[in-house]
Amino acid sequence: MKLLIINGPNLNLLGKREPEVYGNQTFEDYFSTLQFKFKDVQLEYFQSNIEGELITRLQDAGFDYDGIILNAAAYTHTSVGIGDAVKAIKTPVVEVHISNTHKREEFRHVSYISSGAKGVILGFGLQSYDLAVQSFL
Ligand code: DQA
Repeated sequence: MKLLIINGPNLNLLGKREPEVYGNQTFEDYFSTLQFKFKDVQLEYFQSNIEGELITRLQDAGFDYDGIILNAAAYTHTSVGIGDAVKAIKTPVVEVHISNTHKREEFRHVSYISSGAKGVILGFGLQSYDLAVQSFL
């Protein structure tokens, strides 16, 4: 089982960024606990702040990996291009969010990813990623 986690803009700042919303842990740190927990899964991780790089990574992985776990962060609410890429690829995509976006500002209630996703997991903190891995097992 080969899964790729793709994180979008500002998620490289996890641990420092708005800790009351996103927690105190860096993603790198959390990623090693995921790798330790799911030893039988080949887990990879990619982060970019650049929309086109996220699209290119989705395309590159999208006919090869068993699953993609995507937190497109702010691009979730704006990017037709990332939404189209999710629909264009063969690999199933699970959309995740750390926060419960529906409890937040109205502009975060819209997702350009959800209609192409296999499922959506949000609001469980970093554990959302753990639940997304489990959804592929
Ligand atoms: C987020 C929610 C988005 O609205 C926000 O722009 C992010 C992170 C989350 O994981 O909760 O950057 O995707």
